[in-house]
Amino acid sequence: MKKTEIIPIYDPTGDAAGVCRAAELLRQGGLVAIPTETVYGLAADAFNPRAVQEVYAAKGRPSDNPMIVHIAELAMLEQVASSLPENALRLAEAFWPGPLTMVLPKTERVPAVTTGGLESVAVRMPSDGVARAIIRQAATPLAAPSANRSGSPSPTTCRHCIDDLWGRVDAIVESHDCTVGVESTVVSLCGDVPVILRPGAVTPEQLRHVVGEVTVADAVLHMLPEDAAAPSPGMKYKHYSPNARLQLVHGSQWGYIDYVNRKAEEARLHGEEAGIYAMCFDEDIRRLEVPTISYGVTDDYALQAAQLFDVLRQLDKLGAKTVYVHAPEPEEIGLAVYNRLLRAAAFDVVEL
Ligand code: TXA
Ligand code: MG
Repeated sequence: MKKTEIIPIYDPTGDAAGVCRAAELLRQGGLVAIPTETVYGLAADAFNPRAVQEVYAAKGRPSDNPMIVHIAELAMLEQVASSLPENALRLAEAFWPGPLTMVLPKTERVPAVTTGGLESVAVRMPSDGVARAIIRQAATPLAAPSANRSGSPSPTTCRHCIDDLWGRVDAIVESHDCTVGVESTVVSLCGDVPVILRPGAVTPEQLRHVVGEVTVADAVLHMLPEDAAAPSPGMKYKHYSPNARLQLVHGSQWGYIDYVNRKAEEARLHGEEAGIYAMCFDEDIRRLEVPTISYGVTDDYALQAAQLFDVLRQLDKLGAKTVYVHAPEPEEIGLAVYNRLLRAAAFDVVEL
């Protein structure tokens, strides 16, 4: 067990001592969970192979699943990316700092362990003020995957990090809840046409507006065959898996309510209704005949994204066994929510 420090930083200027402490630990090769606008990240010095190796161990993460390298200013980009296609500069200008990660050819300086052995590196400049203050003070790019144990939902609050990583990391920054709530959009710029490897708050339409043609990798909405080479190694792994069995139900409000009530009735006849939950929208609640937990309202995809992971964690705490999830529409940031839920449900989807 490591001794884990809690470092409160709500305001990077007011809590400057906390920023210095977090940066000091990082410079010494320590592991520090830090807030970002998307989800909390488990940060280590991206140039220190031993520290990065410890991140994989603390998370229980397969070592061929590469990390995102976080920078605080454009000058740091040259330290990690060996060439910058025109499109990369345009996207950086439009969306940085913010929830966009670009996959680019890596420099020699980035150790293989940081990129899971790949010749490319994923880079992001977060907009969160606390994250940027810590990167600046550490004066080195920070490798930071989401600060959850591998396989559990990503953390969007300090509490989630404590639940997953207490005793496994050197420090956890106590700060505000994440505003976006789903991980960044990952786009590869290694080929001729940019490819979205993971959807996030920056939508395909927004990317196309800046660089023209952009494709979406098959794995975003479909299960990869066992033997397929994943363009992004993270897609291979079962992700965000709560203990309960989830089923994603895509349909209108009435269709969903009717489906869930029928399923509950069937279960009741067999004496198997215990542990059934509906993970739904506020509008669905009144008519459902099973315990409910809402993750937002029908048309507000941003709210659904912000609440998604916390609700998945709550379901585990409640001991849920079977969860019928009202699917969001796979558009705008709803595409990112849909993509995460698909994986949480191990691709069990009902189209009504
Ligand atoms: O919002 C985020 O991106 C959060 C915060 C902490 O910044 N980070 C995050 O990291 O979600 P992680 O490690 O949980 O997810 C990184 C994803 C993985 O799916 C990984 O496979 C992909 O990015 N990735 C990283 N490097 C890559 C590379 N060189 N080529 C292709 N995919 C890569
Ligand atoms: Mg993750």
